[in-house]
Amino acid sequence: MIVRKVLALAGDGIGPEVLAATRRVMDWFQATGRAKFEVTEGLIGGASYDVHKTPLTDETLARAKASDAVLFACIGGPQWDQLPYDVRPEKGLLRLRKEMGLFANLRPAIVMDALASASSLKTDLVRGLDIMIVRELIGGIYFGEPRGVEQLPDGTRRGYNTQTYSTPEILRIAHVAFDLARKRGKRVCSVDKANVMESGLVWREEITKLRNAQYPDIELSHMYVDNCAMQLVRTPKQFDVIVTDNLFGDILSDLASMLTGSLGMLPSASLGAVGADGRQPAVYEPVHGSAPDITGKGIANPLAMIFSFAMMLRYSFNLGADADLLEKAAQNVLSGGVRTGDIAEPGQTPISTTAMADAVVAELGRLAK
Ligand code: IPM
Ligand code: MG
Repeated sequence: MIVRKVLALAGDGIGPEVLAATRRVMDWFQATGRAKFEVTEGLIGGASYDVHKTPLTDETLARAKASDAVLFACIGGPQWDQLPYDVRPEKGLLRLRKEMGLFANLRPAIVMDALASASSLKTDLVRGLDIMIVRELIGGIYFGEPRGVEQLPDGTRRGYNTQTYSTPEILRIAHVAFDLARKRGKRVCSVDKANVMESGLVWREEITKLRNAQYPDIELSHMYVDNCAMQLVRTPKQFDVIVTDNLFGDILSDLASMLTGSLGMLPSASLGAVGADGRQPAVYEPVHGSAPDITGKGIANPLAMIFSFAMMLRYSFNLGADADLLEKAAQNVLSGGVRTGDIAEPGQTPISTTAMADAVVAELGRLAK
């Protein structure tokens, strides 16, 4: 059986807790002979800064590149907020994405029946919701040059960043969105700010050309990002696949996560181009952050990371049936009223991070019988 090399990066805050929970689930897949993993751990973010004075060492980056997939939790925390940008925890994650070439970030927002009432929207607006947000991840204003802070002669300062998108950057992310749409509802909504920004105009035109040339079977629509934010809370079910740039994708995916009831539920996959050797660089990570307010309490919801592991099974290891099994197990657990505090409803006693993982493992065992 193939041994899959996985680098696990717990990062900061609740990261180590949700990673430990997810490893219990990974262990089940190993113990039952479904897959074989060689898991090693590494430091990233503030945890790496505290030891190495950098949020990502070259050595950890090299291990990430050499692994079949990376499982990453979350980074950041108030104790590192005063650091300069180049050594902040966030920089470790941004460098990992950039150097691994992870241009495509897939962020599904799915409302499970058991959780429809946990959404802040009316249940009928979100029941059955299944959106895929495809976010460009290594371009745009996050990385554009020039950037910086300059001192002006009058003693004031000016901070500046650059939003840029070129044809190849737009086309490669658009291909991902159109290909995904083909396997789903065949609809793509491209989101930009073409009414104000040149980069948005190029984005819109390139995507339209690609659709007409290669994806005539896909229905393409365009939306300005402000309208999209509004539409997402007004009638979220109108969307199938949303494709958008780095900054807008960051914002809209947080918004979409709340439609599902909890930020603690959303997984994501960050993928690069398939290399000449057939390998595709991939990092799987929950959308949630490091949650300093509940760190160390053992109450964080591990499901976003467990679902991220399911995405790893599906996208990196071609183990779609095992991914389905894991998602089904987690859904059954939720249907049974087993909840962590973030998604507990009145009358439900919240359980711990570890107990949630164990409930998923127990359900996996039941389903696999
Ligand atoms: C995300 C996060 C990151 C981002 C931060 C931590 C750098 O918000 O993955 O959405 O802005 O991309
Ligand atoms: Mg974000």
